[in-house]
Amino acid sequence: MESAKENQPQEAHVLVFPYPAQGHINTMLRLAEALSFAGGLRISFLNTEHNHRRLSRFTFRPNFRFLSIPDGLPDDKPRSAQQVIELFHSLRTRSVDSFRALLLAGGNRDPDGWPPVTCVIVDGSMPFFMDPAQALGIPAIVFRTISASSLWVYLQISQMIEAGELPFPADADLDEPIKSVPAMEGFLRRRDLPSICRQTTKAEDEMLHLFANISTSATRSKGLILNTSNFLEAPILSKIRSLFPTTYAVGPLHALVESITSSSVSASLLSEDRSALIWLDAQPDHSVVYVSFGSLVQLTQEEFLEFWHGLLNSGHRFLWVMRPDLVAGGTEAVEMAGLEERARLVAWAPQEEVLRHRAVGCFITHSGWNSTVESAAAGVPMVCWPRAWDQLVNSRLVGEVWKVGLDMKDVCRREMVESMVRAVMEGKKAEEFRQVAAEMAVEIGRSVAEDGDSMFDFDRLVRDILSLSM
Ligand code: UDX
Repeated sequence: MESAKENQPQEAHVLVFPYPAQGHINTMLRLAEALSFAGGLRISFLNTEHNHRRLSRFTFRPNFRFLSIPDGLPDDKPRSAQQVIELFHSLRTRSVDSFRALLLAGGNRDPDGWPPVTCVIVDGSMPFFMDPAQALGIPAIVFRTISASSLWVYLQISQMIEAGELPFPADADLDEPIKSVPAMEGFLRRRDLPSICRQTTKAEDEMLHLFANISTSATRSKGLILNTSNFLEAPILSKIRSLFPTTYAVGPLHALVESITSSSVSASLLSEDRSALIWLDAQPDHSVVYVSFGSLVQLTQEEFLEFWHGLLNSGHRFLWVMRPDLVAGGTEAVEMAGLEERARLVAWAPQEEVLRHRAVGCFITHSGWNSTVESAAAGVPMVCWPRAWDQLVNSRLVGEVWKVGLDMKDVCRREMVESMVRAVMEGKKAEEFRQVAAEMAVEIGRSVAEDGDSMFDFDRLVRDILSLSM
């Protein structure tokens, strides 16, 4: 067996490698940041060259550095939502050799004189990067950026097929409950399954099986890290632990990092428009609807206009993250004149700070897992409009399990946007949502504080990394 560790002193050196998309980099950078404060660890954070150039604002610590490898796509190729699958295949077929070479180039050949890598934390959506590490005798731990609930559903794909619940015909009743996913029988409907379950017409559908295989491949690792907590997903975590006994529930990581460092650096690939915070300063408490569909979701012109008019008709103020590529085919001109007091559009916001701002009363979200836990940690009720993938599971958690908002899944009409925004912003129901959200925020704060469950799992992770590195 080749060995990157041979004849080297074993100083613990962790290499963290996220899938090259904002929602994955955010969380894994938070984990890397927390580890860099743990003591006794050096951290290399691996980006693709394309993203490496965009993360230059991050401040280095002496025991933390960035590295990069090519993603295999031409420089001028866009890496937006439409290229997610292409990027995945390119990494799988063209980047594994670069990754192996990087692991081998430890010790004396390391440009910074750092010791060899003693442990890798790879994004579980790219399990093929575990193989070169393990072949070199380097233990691999897997990180999944999705919720425990979404992961659990992916892990149950073969059971759903066996039980005849998958595939279902295109005209099936989407409100039919799913019975073959333990611990979720009470609330999971066809409608709430990840979007790949809907697209498939045959059980053999390649994507469906790919997702199932990716999820189970984490069993080949030394452990599984999730950006969740016992408070948020206890029953599902206990199911996951029956398959992956070494599971670390260390989330929400942005809150855990703050608890460790009392501050945190931005992990944004795009530059944040901080004028959003100045605008919020001038608004009354709980008066603003914050709207963001994450880093990948695209709206059609029609959907965009339904949200726009729904928000206007609600009469509430809003702050909307209008990424340049948010609306397919560009934004149809909307009249902003006279709306300056009520509405503010930004290309990219400092989201965690926005959600913590006293002026924000509700979050219209696509239910990406980061956005979901950031909102929960800030005590902000949500109106969920999940678009794809794991988001469909997350919004069901918010609406039906946590009851901290409403799930608008599969509907995009201005009347619905207006009525849901009103329900979360006005009257008795809104007060209830705010109360539940505030209680959740307190519990999340407890879980990341000293002696909290997530901090306990984080400390256990650090101890295990140190012992794996010996
Ligand atoms: C996707 C999936 O939807 C998500 O469930 C998975 O865990 C990671 O990949 P994405 O669609 O981008 O991620 O959504 P989300 O998980 O919510 O991540 C978006 C991140 O961008 C959040 O951390 C959010 O704070 C940040 N963001 C978003 C900003 O910093 N500014 C903005 O203006 C908008």
